[in-house]
Amino acid sequence: LYAQAVQITLSDTSHEKISKYIYGQFAEHLGHCIYDGFWVDANLNVPKKDRIRLDVVEALKKIQIPDLRWPGGCFADQYHWSDGIGDRSKRPQRVNTSWGMVTEDNSFGTDEFLELCKLIGCEPYIAGNVGTGTPQEMEDWLEYLNFNGKSTLADLRRKNGHDAPYNVSLWGVGNESWGCGGNMTPEFYANLYKRYAEFCKNYPGTSLKKIASGANSDDYHWTDVCMKDIPLRDMWGLSMHYYTVVNNWQHKGSATSFDESEYFKGLKNCLHIEDLINKHSAIMDKYDPQKKVALAVDEWGIWTDPEPGTNGAFLYQQNSLRDALIAASTLNIFNNHCDRIRVANLAQTVNVLQSLILTDKEKMLLTPTYYVFDLYKKHQDATLLPLQFTSPQYTFGNESIPAINASASKDSTGAIHITLVNLDARKKITVNAAMPESSMKKSSGEILTSKKFNDINTFEKPYKVKNEIFSDFKTNGKTLSVNLPPMSVVLITLQ
Ligand code: AHR
Repeated sequence: LYAQAVQITLSDTSHEKISKYIYGQFAEHLGHCIYDGFWVDANLNVPKKDRIRLDVVEALKKIQIPDLRWPGGCFADQYHWSDGIGDRSKRPQRVNTSWGMVTEDNSFGTDEFLELCKLIGCEPYIAGNVGTGTPQEMEDWLEYLNFNGKSTLADLRRKNGHDAPYNVSLWGVGNESWGCGGNMTPEFYANLYKRYAEFCKNYPGTSLKKIASGANSDDYHWTDVCMKDIPLRDMWGLSMHYYTVVNNWQHKGSATSFDESEYFKGLKNCLHIEDLINKHSAIMDKYDPQKKVALAVDEWGIWTDPEPGTNGAFLYQQNSLRDALIAASTLNIFNNHCDRIRVANLAQTVNVLQSLILTDKEKMLLTPTYYVFDLYKKHQDATLLPLQFTSPQYTFGNESIPAINASASKDSTGAIHITLVNLDARKKITVNAAMPESSMKKSSGEILTSKKFNDINTFEKPYKVKNEIFSDFKTNGKTLSVNLPPMSVVLITLQ
């Protein structure tokens, strides 16, 4: 089946940069993300540095993840950093009351996290504790991390094996302070933010990018109060969290066993994020027309029911072609709104929610979502090329959504990268793109697709859904013509 062709026009008029931090990831002390994900048993037979799993590190290096947010999530507001430093045998055992009441042995703490980031080659993004911590505790943590001079805390870092300061700059002041971070009103939080942020100091060599805990989904009042009450010079970013839930929070829907109706609903709910971005951005524009404060979507992704037979508090879910289409569409939306969105973190990297990687003891697999980040890495820090087009509709029952979404950028070498998504479950769609210039000597394509929307990678068949070379496209002067199969993500590169 063919739908009508789409005409896209690319322009070369923007100077907006697609911040690489849009491609950030998130790792919480939750289920098997840190423990048994990144940080494994010393006897597990996989390549390791200390207890950090190196096959996971290598996979994340390949897709150039720019930053990793840690230690939560909800866990961040119960985490006391001084529990997780020094001699591991002497670290206190706590209870992870946020996620399943399991024992937190604190074997993975600040220095282990910073080592993980160093191995991946990404920046740390630390979420500080506002819910149960004090301004003193937050100030001390930053001194331990970033102070190069003589002080008891900087010396403690040296004693723990790290002579040089870590220069951590991405810094969250609390997490979901409207909910698990302390059930606050925005007015109360804005006051607390000012108090805590005052003690988050810029030690020589590091300028902090302080990010305030922002709205839940469509809580526009939260954004309004934070923008009004917090001096903008003291807030580098304001966050917003949005999860795609197919049905409702009580019955979210299965990650693997779903029909076209749930496929459609998942996509429709994912695309809703653009409406949220437009409305939160409009509020931010009112106070900050020059767009100095970043909108940080530092938790996003699809949240399904946990895999049957797993601990429900561990949020372990499989990952299908549908989830890859959700990731690809969301990233296109983020790219096209890069004037305001300058940070985003998919929840949560390994074994939790919309993971890039799943592990089972020695085994490891890359999910369909991982392959999207591999295709899209070309957009990191490239210049946005705005697109204009009207998409055909993908109709299911009496509802419809745009079948096609896309974004494009030009990198520092002059190469143009276009990422195109066809959400229609049945129709192939031809996209004709008018390019800003005709100097396209070389072209290449890659595609992520599969036969069924609920196709997944398993430990038995780990490469069922993966990127392949794509050649069903033509270039002619300033025109590019691409035939997009149903349920596909395509990257075209022109140089
Ligand atoms: O990502 C899982 C949880 O979702 C996080 O801990 C919390 O911030 C959000 O509610």
